[in-house]
Amino acid sequence: MTANRFRTPLCDLLGIETPIILAGMGVWGMATPPALVAAVSKAGGLGVLGCSGLSPAEIRRRIHAVRDLTDKPFGVDLLLPATLAPAAATRSGVRDDLARNHPEHVRFYESLLERFNLKATPVQDDIVISSELIEAQIAVTLEEQVPVFAAGLGDPARITGRAKAQGMTTLGLVGSPRNAQRQAAAGVDAVVAQGTEAGGHTGRIANFPLIPQVVDAVAPLPVIAAGGISDGRGIAAALALGADGVWLGSLFLTADEGDLPDACKDELIAAKSSDMDVTRAWTGKTLRARRNPVSEAWAASGLDPLPTPHQRVLMEDFLEATKAAGRWDLFMNAAGQGIGMVERRRPAAAIMADLIAGTETALEALDRRTGRER
Ligand SMILES: Cc1cc2nc3c(=O)[nH]c(=O)nc-3n(C[C@H](O)[C@H](O)[C@H](O)COP(=O)(O)O)c2cc1C
Repeated sequence: MTANRFRTPLCDLLGIETPIILAGMGVWGMATPPALVAAVSKAGGLGVLGCSGLSPAEIRRRIHAVRDLTDKPFGVDLLLPATLAPAAATRSGVRDDLARNHPEHVRFYESLLERFNLKATPVQDDIVISSELIEAQIAVTLEEQVPVFAAGLGDPARITGRAKAQGMTTLGLVGSPRNAQRQAAAGVDAVVAQGTEAGGHTGRIANFPLIPQVVDAVAPLPVIAAGGISDGRGIAAALALGADGVWLGSLFLTADEGDLPDACKDELIAAKSSDMDVTRAWTGKTLRARRNPVSEAWAASGLDPLPTPHQRVLMEDFLEATKAAGRWDLFMNAAGQGIGMVERRRPAAAIMADLIAGTETALEALDRRTGRER
């Protein structure tokens, strides 16, 4: 075993021991709860709380919960959409707009309820993603002096200046070299390059061409690879492509500490890579998730997706009905192609230990196979 072979400069930037990061994942707080975030940070990586859909008060509660479990560094991830369609600032206002201007989409939602025999159970809160909500979410993260901020989707410029001023490290997610340059110009400290293989919102470029191009586009900023990485071989490959670390989502969805319902975890464990399709059904943006009867019905409907927040508001009401009925087979089970390699539920510490050992093994095997044994 080669000591410290698997430490990169990113570890110093983030104050961690091994450059493995738990991706912040939204999903109503179920995917990356404080227990999972703390477990990854305790294991030497960086846990990131996915806070996009959460109220500022809930974000604060979760930050405190992580701090109760560990004094290691951790992060908060928020979605900062660069453009939001002109919309009412409330869920009920968006619903009125849907009824007035998008009756075919409302009919699609009603046809789903009918077909699957679900009772309408509209989401109770009146909050939608708006510039004001995002500002309040950012304010809590800054006030709480969270060590790392990650901007998924969108433009991090609204936070990087304030973050830097208080010593917070910022990461920005991108799916193309052009966006990577934009994020670098906005002042992020490192770029997460996310290939199309990834779960959740995703772009069109696969990691083999994406990572080297992003590395070249933002040098000397460190690049973190995301998408489809499920074991140490994937990590070794990402390092070979020029990445300084990895950002893993799907692999941790089935972790014991995650709060997704067991039915969703089991569905992911049973899924093959080829079951994970990109659809715009759930949020209006391209999102990779387990193909299911709802995404198939959307594809068959021929409807165009609505912009944020309209498609979300429409489909969140449907998802609320699936949750109420326990119909997890109809839920938005977002995950990436790497899920085909996940075979069982495990504690996060065991996943981390395997990733670290697997990377060492893969790097040593590479040296042997290429005659570079040290
Ligand atoms: C269920 C799920 C929810 C996600 N939610 C978010 C999110 O709220 N913010 C974000 O920046 N990225 C989100 N992502 C993307 C991840 O941050 C990450 O880039 C991706 O999971 C990496 O690919 P992998 O799933 O193949 O590991 C989500 C991914 C999944 C699977």
